[in-house]
Amino acid sequence: MKHLDKIEYLSKEEIENITDTAKSFKAGRYANYPTRHAALMFFENSTRTRFSFECAIKRLGAKSYVFDTAKSSILKGEELFDTINNMAAIGIDTFIIRTREENLIGELKEKTFYRPVHFINAGEGKSSHPTQALLDYYTIIENLGSVKNKKIVIAGDIKHSRVARSNIALLKREGANIVCCAPKYFQEEIDGVYFEENLNNALLGADIVMCLRIQTERLEGEISKEDYIKNYRISKENLPENALLMHPGPVNRDVEITSDIIDSPQGQTILKQAENGVYIRMAVLDKIFKEGRI
Ligand code: CP
Repeated sequence: MKHLDKIEYLSKEEIENITDTAKSFKAGRYANYPTRHAALMFFENSTRTRFSFECAIKRLGAKSYVFDTAKSSILKGEELFDTINNMAAIGIDTFIIRTREENLIGELKEKTFYRPVHFINAGEGKSSHPTQALLDYYTIIENLGSVKNKKIVIAGDIKHSRVARSNIALLKREGANIVCCAPKYFQEEIDGVYFEENLNNALLGADIVMCLRIQTERLEGEISKEDYIKNYRISKENLPENALLMHPGPVNRDVEITSDIIDSPQGQTILKQAENGVYIRMAVLDKIFKEGRI
């Protein structure tokens, strides 16, 4: 594949290849691509993914360019295709895109540009966030060796979460036992996924607890924050002692997880996820820069 679109399009072998490469970068492997030029086009807010990709590009010796959405000619009416085509003519070869729109990468990869370009999905609508799923998978295997037969509880705003959808697709295929836990207003049917509404029941025997952010920017209608905190917040009282606690960030402190847990040793995996994200993105970019494919 010339592009990184949805996690579902990667084979088991391609995923293992990316995680192995990430591991070697974490161990100090060096690569240098001074003639490669990558643009970061983020049409939705981001801290982790944007900085992580920028850091990965720079560590690989390539050039990074931040596309300023507030000052671009798209605001003068230019279509995204024309913007990208002009950037390709100027010399950008890799486009890392975050968008609210579904299937934008799917549409772009079918078009012909001034020169061959690569697209990387940095989070699309509520359906996909492939590099987040890859870094989460990597963090799990780094800590627990494998996901096979592990009980993974995904708790929170499943309905609006691209992180949940990409993780479910990847982790189920790798043999994990997934239980989703959410109140009715955050549930949405996902193929083959079991919902448990009671948090304490869901957490029984959990190996991994993956919390999700409540996405206030995507909420339609009111939800009761107090009700969510009372019934779904992860705290000392309900978190299994040996469970690996994860969260893609940004965390709403004391809403999804209590602050004392976030700042405890058990909460440090959340920062490990951010750290590992750089190595996963280096691995993805390394494949594209070196082989022209994932
Ligand atoms: N996890 C994640 O995608 O975070 P950002 O929105 O900060 O990139």
